[in-house]
Amino acid sequence: MLLIMDWTSLREQFPVTRRWAFFDHAAVAPLSGPAQRAVIEWAADMADNGDVHEPLWFRRVNEVRGLAGRLLNADALDVAFVKNTSEGVGIVAEGFPWRPGDNVVTAAEEYPSNLYPWLNLHDRGVEVRRVPSRGPRVDLGDLRAAIDGRTRLVSLSFVEYASGFRNDLDAVGALCRERGISFFVDAIQGLGVLPLDVGRTPVDFLSADGHKWLLGSEGAGLFYVRRDLVEMLRPVSVGWNSVAGAWDFATIDLRLKPHAGRWENGTLNVGGIAALGASLGLLLELGIPAVSERVLELTDYLCERALAAGVEVFSSRLPSDRSGIVSLVVPGADVREVVRRCRVAGVVVSQRAGRLRVSPHCYNTHEEVDRLVGLLAEPGP
Ligand SMILES: Cc1ncc(COP(=O)(O)O)c(C=O)c1O
Repeated sequence: MLLIMDWTSLREQFPVTRRWAFFDHAAVAPLSGPAQRAVIEWAADMADNGDVHEPLWFRRVNEVRGLAGRLLNADALDVAFVKNTSEGVGIVAEGFPWRPGDNVVTAAEEYPSNLYPWLNLHDRGVEVRRVPSRGPRVDLGDLRAAIDGRTRLVSLSFVEYASGFRNDLDAVGALCRERGISFFVDAIQGLGVLPLDVGRTPVDFLSADGHKWLLGSEGAGLFYVRRDLVEMLRPVSVGWNSVAGAWDFATIDLRLKPHAGRWENGTLNVGGIAALGASLGLLLELGIPAVSERVLELTDYLCERALAAGVEVFSSRLPSDRSGIVSLVVPGADVREVVRRCRVAGVVVSQRAGRLRVSPHCYNTHEEVDRLVGLLAEPGP
């Protein structure tokens, strides 16, 4: 683990810091310098050599799989590369052995990619129970109350995209175990910034693209499936690379890989995976607990400064609830206008659910937070 007492030295690894105070990692994160170099290296090699170095790139892909396994404390073979979060949700939604009358429990305010794949099961007789939040919190008691004898799966975000509420995956997972229900986690708003150990937390399936807190590129993400559940899912979209003898093209033998690899049905996004791996390597070197502590400290500081400037903090900042996402209400201001004003001043934030969403990563600074809060305190035009 790198001992970075001075987080500002890390900024050299983030070209975005030259131009922007970037607080929008919950949307699309900038590539880290190592990720940028990985893509350049891959593109140059493909341009100069075509597939001549293919074995080296396959090795790289498997190294990244190893890093993903380390991130989750899972066996690397339990991780498949997917093109985005939605693909992972779809793998489970379409492959799960539903019976008409079954239901899925989720939170009402989930991001659409964790709602549509379940809602799309209506023609198979599967009901979706959307539990409304109480203010910024998804209440465990409300989830429990929505579960009945026909609930087969609970699907939740690690962190809710609009409110920044961090679901208690240990508690929800334990509840699911107790009731014999599967547990799916849309992890994109937490993975890379909050620790998650699937050896300890009872998560059955997980999906996350790499383009947010993992600081990877768009279109290269991770799908995790617990090994003993692989056979329970009907594999959707099987291809040449789903089978045990994938490289023996002349022998057609439909014996699927006995692990998550069966969902990597064909050619992978090697450049994107290389970028993801480079950022993941950096994050693991820093240590996810250290990254987490830094981001939570920065967001605590942001909330403190925002409150002092008369800005309302919508997110729950209880120690167990807080995350890298802070949702703010700027009184009397048009939130879109605030986002525009910040952009003009070199500060990148976004808006969700009519509120300002601020999402710093570990390389942001307290001075940048001060700049942002100064802009929020400014009267509009
Ligand atoms: C909770 C959540 N899930 C999923 C996504 C994105 O899904 P995908 O990776 O399929 O584009 C987002 C944001 O874009 C999100 O906030």
